[in-house]
Amino acid sequence: MADPVGLVAQRIAVAFAKVGGQKAVGIDTAVRQSDRADAQVNGSLALAKVMGATPRDIAVKVLEVAELQDICSSTEVAGPGFINLTFANEFLARELVVASGSEKLGVASTPTSRRVVIDYSAPNVAKEMHVGHLRSTVIGDALVRMLMFVGNTVVRENHVGDWGTPFGMLIEHLIDSGEVNAAKELSIGDLDSFYRSARKKFDESEEFQKRARTRVVALQGGDAETLRLWKLLVAESTRYFQTIYETLGVLLQDSDVMGESAYNSLLPKVVERLGKLKMLTTSDGADVVFPDGFTNRENQPLPLIIRKTDGGYNYATSDLACVIDRVERLGASLLLYVVGAPQAQHLQMVSAVAKQAGWLQAPREMVHVAFGNVLGADRKMLKTRSGDTIKLDALLTEAVERAAAAVAQKNPELSADKQSEISRIVGIGAVKYADLSTDRIKDYTFDWDRMLSFDGNTSPYLQYAHARICSIFRRANIERQSVRNVTPIIEHTAERELAMRVLQFDSAFWDTLDKYSPHRLCTYLYDLASCFSSFYEQCSVLKADTDDQRNSRLMLCDLTARVMQAGLGVLGIEAPEQM
Ligand code: ARG
Repeated sequence: MADPVGLVAQRIAVAFAKVGGQKAVGIDTAVRQSDRADAQVNGSLALAKVMGATPRDIAVKVLEVAELQDICSSTEVAGPGFINLTFANEFLARELVVASGSEKLGVASTPTSRRVVIDYSAPNVAKEMHVGHLRSTVIGDALVRMLMFVGNTVVRENHVGDWGTPFGMLIEHLIDSGEVNAAKELSIGDLDSFYRSARKKFDESEEFQKRARTRVVALQGGDAETLRLWKLLVAESTRYFQTIYETLGVLLQDSDVMGESAYNSLLPKVVERLGKLKMLTTSDGADVVFPDGFTNRENQPLPLIIRKTDGGYNYATSDLACVIDRVERLGASLLLYVVGAPQAQHLQMVSAVAKQAGWLQAPREMVHVAFGNVLGADRKMLKTRSGDTIKLDALLTEAVERAAAAVAQKNPELSADKQSEISRIVGIGAVKYADLSTDRIKDYTFDWDRMLSFDGNTSPYLQYAHARICSIFRRANIERQSVRNVTPIIEHTAERELAMRVLQFDSAFWDTLDKYSPHRLCTYLYDLASCFSSFYEQCSVLKADTDDQRNSRLMLCDLTARVMQAGLGVLGIEAPEQM
C-alpha cells in the first residue's frame, strides 16, 4: 500500500476499535482527503453517539491510542470532533521510495486474483465497424490492461456478429459478385457498400429473396459449400477488423474472436437445460422465459425469446450459451460486457435468466460496462457529411494527419521519421483519450480541435508533460536509473503536493477499476500533470541549491514520469520520450 491515506486508515481503524470495543463495530472510520489538512476522519461523531460521550472526547481518545508517530507530523481535533491529520514529510519520502522501487509504482495487487472474461469490440461481419465499436474496443482494451496490471487472469473475447439470417442474402450476393471481386471489396473495408447492395437486391427481387432464404437453411444445416462461402465472408471482414486493431494498437488478436457462430452447437442445449428447469413457456408459438421483474410499457411481463416460432434461435439464446461457456468451460468468475447502453435491458434479462437457472451463482458476477453514443459537433450521432457511417480507418488516418500538423508546429526540429512516428502516437492517443476521459455512461462529442489540443485534459498534454520530464534528464545527461533510490527531501509545498499526488496512483487506479470507469484514471493523470507543472515552475531542478536537493527533485521527476507512462500505458496510450 503506497497511498498514505490507505496506511493511515488502517491505523485509525485499529484506534477506533481500541476506544470503542464492540461498539466500534460498524462505525465508519474512513479517512478521507481533506482541504484543511492532508486527511480527515469523521467517525468520532458516530462512535460518540453509541457510547454516550462527546465527539471531541472520543476524538482525543482515538488520537491518544492511534499509532501515528511515524506517519503524521501533526494531528488535531477540530470543530465538533473531526480529526485532521497532516502527514510527516519523512513519511511521504519513505513511501515515495517504496513506490519507486516497486514494479507497479505503488499500485497494490488484487487480493483475490480472478478469472475475468471480457466481451468487447464485437463488430458485425460484412458491416462497417462504427464508432460505437470503437468505444467498446478502446474502453475494453483499457480495462483488460488494468485488470492484468493488478494480477487478474483475463480472457479477451471478441463476440463478433457472424451468424443469423442476413447471411443468406450476403452469401448469395457474394456468389453474384464472384468470390474474387467480393473478397476485394470486403478486404479494403468496403463493408457497408457490400451489405447495402445485398440488401437492395433482397428488397427488390423476389427471386433473390427466395435464394437468400434457401441459403440460410443450407447454412444452418451445415451445407459444406455454404459454410465455405460463409467462412470467406467472415475471414475477409475479420481481416479488415484486425487492421483497425493494429492501427489502434489494442491487444485484440485474431485468436480472440469468439463470434456468435461459435455458440451454435450449444444453442439446443440451452433450450434443453431451460426446459429441464421448467423455465420455458410457449408464447405465440415461441419458447420464451419470463424473468422476474421485467415488464413492458403496458405492465405485461416481458419475455426473453429463446427459440422463435420457426425454430430459429435468438441473440439472447447465444448470449445465454455464452454465459454457460464462460462459466463452465473457461471457469470465469467475472463476466464483463463492454457494450453500448441501448443493450442494457437485453443484458439484464440474460443475466436474470442465467441467475435463475443457476448458471451465474455468487461470487460469479456479470457486469454490463455500458457506454453512451458518440456525437458529432451538431450533437447528433456522428456521421459523415453525406450522412454515411464514418469509416474507422478513414477516421484514424485523419487523426494521424491532424496530429502531424500539430507536431510539426510544436517541434519543427524533429527528423521526418521521428515526426511521423510521433504523429501516429499523438493522433491515435488523442482519439482514444478523448473517448476514455469522458464518463463512459455519457454521450461524448467528437471534437478534433479539443482532442488534439496541447492544453487541458487531453492526451497530447499528458504525453507532452511526460516528454518534458524525459528531456530534463536528456539535457543534463543524467541516467534516470541513477536517481531511483534517492530518498527525497520534501520541503517546498509544490514538492509536497506533487509527492501526495504521485502516491495517489494506487487509489486512483483502484477507484477506476472498481467502477470500470477509465475517466477516473484520466482525471488523476491530468491532476498529476498539472501538479508537476506547478512544481516545475516553482522549484528549480537542475539548478537546485544543493546536490541533495537536485537529486531529490530529479527523483520526483523520474517517478512522476514513470507514473504518467504507466497510467497512459494501461489506457493503451504510448508516451514517447521526445515530442
Ligand atoms: N455485435 C453486437 C453489436 O454490434 C455486440 C455484441 C455484444 N456482446 C454480446 N455478448 N452480446 O451490437
